[in-house]
Amino acid sequence: MPGLAPKLALAGAAAAGGVALWWRRNPSACPYSQRFWVEAPHPFVTRARLLEILAPQPGERLLEVGPGTGYYSLDVAERLRPEGGLDIFDLQPEMLDHTMARAGERE
Ligand SMILES: C[S@@+](CC[C@H](N)C(=O)[O-])C[C@H]1O[C@@H](n2cnc3c(N)ncnc32)[C@H](O)[C@@H]1O
Repeated sequence: MPGLAPKLALAGAAAAGGVALWWRRNPSACPYSQRFWVEAPHPFVTRARLLEILAPQPGERLLEVGPGTGYYSLDVAERLRPEGGLDIFDLQPEMLDHTMARAGERE
């Protein structure tokens, strides 16, 4: 059907814009049930790029606010070992539990 694809693209863009506007007016943390959004690759600030910028050193103690599921946390924490460490603080205990479980899997 000619002309359907542009209409669908426009409708999709309008829907995405509407959601973005709604979220801007009703800010809230990304719920744990939607965690797949924060587990997706972060192409603009990759883990390697964050480590390069942050340059964490062994023995340092850092605080990460809002780690989510720990996308960056584990790599940063590894760089701080053995005497240092990463503390994490998140509004949602499920995110903290998730990150700690992942850390346990890496041990
Ligand atoms: C979009 S996720 C980002 C997670 C992670 N930093 C990443 O880049 O993958 C934001 C996280 O910050 C938490 N958060 C939002 N506002 C917060 C606040 N005021 N204090 C602590 N955590 C907060 C949310 O619960 C959520 O886990």
